[in-house]
Amino acid sequence: MNTDSRRRVTLPLLLEMKQRGERIAMVTVYDAPSARLADEAGLDLLLVGDSAAMVVLGHDSTLPVTLEEMIILTRAVSRVAIRPLVVGDLPFGSYQVSDEEAVTNAIRLVKDGGADIVKLEGSDYRLSRVRAIIEAGIPVMGHIGLTPQSATMLGGYRAQGRTAASAQRLYDAGRALEAAGCCALVLEAMPSVVAERITRAVGIPTIGIGAGPSCDGQVLVWHDLLGLTPDPAPRFVERYAQLGTEIRSALERYARDVRDGTFPGERHSYGMPDAERAAFEK
Ligand code: KIV
Repeated sequence: MNTDSRRRVTLPLLLEMKQRGERIAMVTVYDAPSARLADEAGLDLLLVGDSAAMVVLGHDSTLPVTLEEMIILTRAVSRVAIRPLVVGDLPFGSYQVSDEEAVTNAIRLVKDGGADIVKLEGSDYRLSRVRAIIEAGIPVMGHIGLTPQSATMLGGYRAQGRTAASAQRLYDAGRALEAAGCCALVLEAMPSVVAERITRAVGIPTIGIGAGPSCDGQVLVWHDLLGLTPDPAPRFVERYAQLGTEIRSALERYARDVRDGTFPGERHSYGMPDAERAAFEK
């Protein structure tokens, strides 16, 4: 039984937060210890992003991560997350082909991965995917602006919506995703004024990353936020810690202690009753 008395985040609560002007805090996580810490820290939403491909699995884009890998990571997070809702990213290739495949794969992310919500990138034909997945009873979070799965088509990892025409397309996409039934929208790398207009135009919460201060919530990638990715960070990142430096120094001290015999010491070692020891050493 779940004995945690904190109020579990729900979709109605996210809507209430938007209406009350209370900001929603989301962070990416990819494993159980991080999920536990993020939950204890009071984060509202945990995103098991396909950014895992880059920050955890060592790929140079988000494209190679598979549904199976996303399920394993999502399961690790959902096993321990108590208060926050867990958002599982549908990886590239898992929803592009047809509505049927999108529904099948979204169901796997929920059933096998334990996701509460699935997220997919883009608008256009994706609207029919959103509708189909919601019809299967699964909440969908949209994602527009810089959508890393289409980075090549977008001309690289660059801010979107910087012309009046492309800003209008983002605005229309945001409204269309809301009309299709999305429960929330990630707005990534776009001018603040565009994110602000979309946020005002839709009734669902917007979660920004590189989209300025007017969104209903913010998300950052765990490794960026905690200083675990190399400099320079993208301009929208704030480093709240420099864990990379701390971890490297701890590992250097450990290696030094092993090499000079300082570790393990007496207090790390197991003893043996004297009589047993005497018998053994006889
Ligand atoms: O995969 C991810 O981490 C994301 C966030 C950057 C929104 O989609």
